[in-house]
Amino acid sequence: MPLTDQEIALIRESYALLEPRIEDASIIFYERLFEIAPELRAMFRGDIGEQGMKLMTAITAIIQLLDAPDELRGRLRRLGTGHAALGVTYEHFQPFGTALCHTIEEVLGDRLSPDAAYAWKHAYAEIAVGILEGFNGKGMDGTASGANA
Ligand code: HEM
Repeated sequence: MPLTDQEIALIRESYALLEPRIEDASIIFYERLFEIAPELRAMFRGDIGEQGMKLMTAITAIIQLLDAPDELRGRLRRLGTGHAALGVTYEHFQPFGTALCHTIEEVLGDRLSPDAAYAWKHAYAEIAVGILEGFNGKGMDGTASGANA
């Protein structure tokens, strides 16, 4: 189900509060991810600080495109193609999403309303589906859909 305008607004408002602490957030994110799923640690070979900023930059771009579904779809599919090549699988998306939502809750504390926290969970689920569409250039239904993205 696509995000509502209200959810997009809640995500953008809360992300604006997070942005001044983006470096902290990127470090907390990987700490949480490797606590939840230590087996993922070996997949990240580069500098984790740099990787965290790449992730946050990608999330910033995704948030800007939340109301431009066609453009967003192409971007997520391209991320999917890259992630499939990195050995990322469908199962990895759950711990990743949990770590991301924990990070936002931890950094924002009381400033994150329950509605905004829910909007982030919904957004992550939609983003994960979009990325998974790019796995092997195929949609989750097995039809080729990523080739022209
Ligand atoms: C919201 C979902 C995600 C976003 C926005 C995202 C974003 C990124 C970006 C921007 C990069 C840099 C390389 C590139 O541009 O492709 C990257 C690399 C990577 N991502 Fe993701 N990612 C997501 C989900 C995941 C998941 C679920 C995993 C599974 C563990 C994962 C594992 C990796 C790995 C292993 C690398 C390479 C790290 C290295 O070279 O050391 N990502 N990701």
